[in-house]
Amino acid sequence: LLHLLVALIFGYLLGSIPFGLIFTRMAGLGDVRKIGSGNIGATNVLRTGRKGLAAATLLGDALKGTVAVVVAAQWGTQFAIVAALGAFLGHLFPVWLRFKGGKGVATFIGVLIGLKPLAALIFCLIWLGVAFVSKYSSLSALIASAATPVVLWLLGEPGMAGVAIILVALLWWKHSQNISRLLAGTEGKIGQKG
Ligand code: G3P
Repeated sequence: LLHLLVALIFGYLLGSIPFGLIFTRMAGLGDVRKIGSGNIGATNVLRTGRKGLAAATLLGDALKGTVAVVVAAQWGTQFAIVAALGAFLGHLFPVWLRFKGGKGVATFIGVLIGLKPLAALIFCLIWLGVAFVSKYSSLSALIASAATPVVLWLLGEPGMAGVAIILVALLWWKHSQNISRLLAGTEGKIGQKG
């Protein structure tokens, strides 16, 4: 049990590194939380107009989840699953930002890459499909994430599917403002500034 707690804390500490905030600050763009949706994620970094920084944010926020899972997997699958939960919670509720973190999409993909690469691939394909049609980053993430527990279950991973339900519930909760804007027709499209 102590080892599971270590995996959780290890995941949390990695997950709590806010790459979007760090990269935009390093680029001299000020605080990304003061623009667009106010989020620290890649979608909002893209609203600065800096595609490279947005890509780096997506990569950093995803890879921290992958690294947490891959390292913890050395001790077994249950450790990997707990580290995935830790990394996701770290991204959403980082102690360094007074627990006000991101919405979890990139880190969700990252932990999926570590846990079940095929499920991550399916997530990305659904995300790209919805984004291609709708041009909404949030809607794409909401639909792709909702499908993931089902995908994991179909791939024979009921344990991962169970934890994924918790992550998806948190991801949807963090997107409540996006959901309101989508329903009101006021959600910003991908790359649209403001
Ligand atoms: O990854 C978060 C995305 O789904 C929505 O981001 O900045 O539009 O709230 P944002």
